[in-house]
Amino acid sequence: TKKIILDCDPGHDDAIAMLLAYGNPDIELLAVTTVAGNQTLEKVTHNALAVAEMANIRGIPFAAGASRPLVREVEVAPDIHGDSGLDGPKLPTPTLALEKCHAVELIIKLIMSHPPKTITLVPTGALTNIALAARLEPRIVERVKEVVLMGGGYHVGNWSPVAEFNIKIDPEAAHIVFNEKWPLTMVGLDLTHQALATPEIVANIAVVGTDCSQFVVELLDFFGKTYKQAQGFDAPPVHDPCAVAYVIDPTVMTTQKVPVDIELTGTLTLGMTVADFRHPAPADCHTQVAVKLDHGKFWKLVVNALKNIG
Ligand code: BDR
Ligand code: CA
Repeated sequence: TKKIILDCDPGHDDAIAMLLAYGNPDIELLAVTTVAGNQTLEKVTHNALAVAEMANIRGIPFAAGASRPLVREVEVAPDIHGDSGLDGPKLPTPTLALEKCHAVELIIKLIMSHPPKTITLVPTGALTNIALAARLEPRIVERVKEVVLMGGGYHVGNWSPVAEFNIKIDPEAAHIVFNEKWPLTMVGLDLTHQALATPEIVANIAVVGTDCSQFVVELLDFFGKTYKQAQGFDAPPVHDPCAVAYVIDPTVMTTQKVPVDIELTGTLTLGMTVADFRHPAPADCHTQVAVKLDHGKFWKLVVNALKNIG
C-alpha cells in the first residue's frame, strides 16, 4: 500500500479526494491536515471533520494547519465552494476530535518516524503547511517519497489568466515547495480540466446508492452550478482527486518531466507555474507535470472507492 498525507481545504473536490483516498485499498491514509484556502481555516477544518463523519472515518489523525498564507492576506473562493466552503449537501455534525498539535508538526512527526521514502505528500490546497514543514524540519525533503500536488497549470490559469488558485493565493509557499529537490508531480489545470463530472458520471455515482454516494452527487450538483456560473463549464472539473488517483495508479495519466518555477514578481503573472519546455529536461530535473487523463479509469477509481466505503 501507499502511505499518504492529504493536506487539503475542503472544498467540494477536496472532499471527494478524501473519500477516494480513504476508500481505495491501495492507499493508507496516514493523516488529513487542513489549510486556509477555499474558505477560512475554521470552515475547511470543520468540513474535513464533517466528511470524516459522513464516511465514518475513524482512527486517522486530523490536524488544522496554517490559517493564512506566508505573506499575502487570506483569499477565499465562495463563488465556487459557497459560504461554508462545502455548500450543497447537509453536513453531519462532526464527532471526531482534532489532534492538539499543528498540522505542520503532525506532518513532520509522521515523516520522521516512518522509514525514508515511504510517505507521499498530497497537497490539494495552498502549499503553506508544506512550505512551513520544509523550513521547520528540512530533513523531510530527503525523506518523503514524493510530492503529488493539485495546483498550477502550464498553459492555463483560473484565478488569473495564467495562475491557478492554490498557487496564486500563496505563491511564496509554492515557490518553496517547487524549489526543494524532492520529486514533485504537478497535477495542474491542464490535467484536471479533463476530469469532468458529466451527467453520465454523476449517474454512475448515484447508482452506488449509499449515503456517501448521495453526498457526492449533491456536492457535484452544487459544484456544477457554480462552475457553470463562474467559469462557463458545462460539467465541473473535479481537480483534487486527480492527485490521489495518480498516487493510486500512475497510468491514470501521462506525465512529462519539465522544470517548473513559480513567478513571484510579475504584475500580470504572479503565481504562474512557469514550465520550461524549450529543451529536453535536464538529467537532474525533479519536477514533472500531468498531461493527459484516462477519464474512464479515473472515474472508475472514484466509483469503486465509494462502493468500498459503503
Ligand atoms: C483548486 O482550487 C480549489 O478551489 C479546488 O479545491 C482545487 O484544489 C482548483 O484550482
Ligand atoms: Ca482544494
